[in-house]
Amino acid sequence: MRKAVCPGSFDPVTNGHLDVFARAAYLADEVIVAVLVNRTKQSLFTVEERIEMLREVTSSFGNISVDSFDGLLVDYCQNNGVTAIVKGLRAVSDFDYELQMAQMNYRLSRVETLFIATNPEYGYLSSSLIKEVARFGGDVKGSVPDSVLRRLDAKFS
Ligand code: PNS
Repeated sequence: MRKAVCPGSFDPVTNGHLDVFARAAYLADEVIVAVLVNRTKQSLFTVEERIEMLREVTSSFGNISVDSFDGLLVDYCQNNGVTAIVKGLRAVSDFDYELQMAQMNYRLSRVETLFIATNPEYGYLSSSLIKEVARFGGDVKGSVPDSVLRRLDAKFS
């Protein structure tokens, strides 16, 4: 696999995401972690903050870069020579929507989607859950990288 993209909102990046990036980086020559600039979705962290956090946690990988995109993912893929979309699958509940998107993206531009079965250690994790727990003072250590933990503390302190 040549160039792959791991797209998402990453508000914020979790250890589950990081596990998928690492495994994608093992399979592909080059991986782009692409943050969707979604103006309709209310986010905790700005796109710039999310990119900064992603750069911090992926800096040790020689073949992972971080970018943002607006509009259709397939257009981003076409414009950047990306041949595969890589997504983590946590549970069957993820599957319906992920399958729909994979089929639509293939129909639109023949780009393939590859699913990586999430490490069971992180199967219950989501950015929304992390934000909710952190907002009310719960401990999310071990679920997000330490640099993200510090930023969550700063947001909610
Ligand atoms: O982390 P998320 O919010 O679950 O990621 C969803 C994402 C960004 C992968 C998906 O919404 C997406 O690809 N959006 C870009 C717009 C697009 O291409 N929509 C058509 C999908 S078939």
